[in-house]
Amino acid sequence: MEKCLLLGNGGREAVLAEYISKGYSLYTVCPYENPSIIEMVNKSGGKYIVADPFNKEIVSDFIKENNIEVCLISSDNLLQDGLIDVARELGLKTFGPTSKGAKIEWSKTYALDIVEKLAPQMIIKNYNITSIEELKNIINSYNDDSFVVKPEGLTGGKGVKVGGIHFKGKDEGLEYAKSCLEISGNVIIQDKIEGREFTVMALTDGENIVVTPTTFDYPYRFNEDKGPGTGGMGCLSFENGMLPFLEQKDIDECSNLIKETLKYINKDNLEFNGVIYGGFFKTKNGIKFIEFNSRFGDPEALNVLNSLETPFTDVMKNIFNKTLSTENCKFKKECTFTVYIVTKEYAVESRKEPLIFTISREAIEKQGVKIYFANTKHLEGNKYSSVSNSRLFGLTTSAKTLQEAKEKVYNAIKGNIDEKLDYRTDIGSIYEH
Ligand code: GLY
Repeated sequence: MEKCLLLGNGGREAVLAEYISKGYSLYTVCPYENPSIIEMVNKSGGKYIVADPFNKEIVSDFIKENNIEVCLISSDNLLQDGLIDVARELGLKTFGPTSKGAKIEWSKTYALDIVEKLAPQMIIKNYNITSIEELKNIINSYNDDSFVVKPEGLTGGKGVKVGGIHFKGKDEGLEYAKSCLEISGNVIIQDKIEGREFTVMALTDGENIVVTPTTFDYPYRFNEDKGPGTGGMGCLSFENGMLPFLEQKDIDECSNLIKETLKYINKDNLEFNGVIYGGFFKTKNGIKFIEFNSRFGDPEALNVLNSLETPFTDVMKNIFNKTLSTENCKFKKECTFTVYIVTKEYAVESRKEPLIFTISREAIEKQGVKIYFANTKHLEGNKYSSVSNSRLFGLTTSAKTLQEAKEKVYNAIKGNIDEKLDYRTDIGSIYEH
């Protein structure tokens, strides 16, 4: 069996570990022992070391010592830092863009410039600001806080702040925008628009794309989409791969933009493959572009990989061979449903001490619900510990109907996870903003 290196330690990597290890021996360099990933490493006869995955020398030595042939990375920071570049230089087959290819995610202005050229009708009016004077003038030109502040770099889903929701009044918006400007030397101010947010994700070999079932993510921390933005508190997809408020022509418009963007990136010689993920808004004036990511979303990966009919390792091989097509990358006609479990403090305040908690894992899995660990370590028996103040684990299932999938996950939560933990109880409701 070929050996595949997976870097990254979230719930997304936990589900990737499960599906990669069905066809490869799994190897990883990890900052801590994520129980899901380690289990798959051991099961597939692979190997891991606990070390910094950002350390290129350590990763490169690990690849050489173990004769690793394949590498998959789907974490924004690792991609930006060029860990795929390291694997490519050593001759591995790689899934994930080079650091330059990932620029569509780590530079919001680069992504906006591309969409401005390819689909200007999808652009929301925005200003790329590089000085305090300019920032004050632009914010003053708004009547109220109907604008959005977007930092330039990677923020793990927590950087974009919307007027009237995350900040109140122009002054608060200005203060936040100033702090972003100080960090990266520029900040984007964008008009606030009303609409419904959705994601179109595509697998790509760099030339061909296959659009995955469309997912609906719950980025806000609390029920009814209240509270700060997070990496995602839950996610769902429907059996027809669509969302109730979308039409096929909406998906086609987004996938055309994705295709054209890939061509554009290839022209710049940026070596892109893996996943291209577009965030969009459906508004009364048409579909509007929010952002590109150059990787699987998290939690979206938990839903999408569980809805693949084709073995994921076959999809990987078709990506390496540049032969990806809708014929060799098929999805099941099922609904998928994910809820992320977090600490009560998650995204609201910082926790200094790790949280020790219990989960009845066996009882959860017996109910047909899969558990994907993220920032969690196993202690003993049913005892676990948080590793950082980030999401702890995701619970995912599939079913014929969304109601059935939702009940399965929420029933599995009842009595099987520690009361110290927290989660949204309204995943499945679709809100309009
Ligand atoms: N769920 C949003 C993201 O992965 O960026």
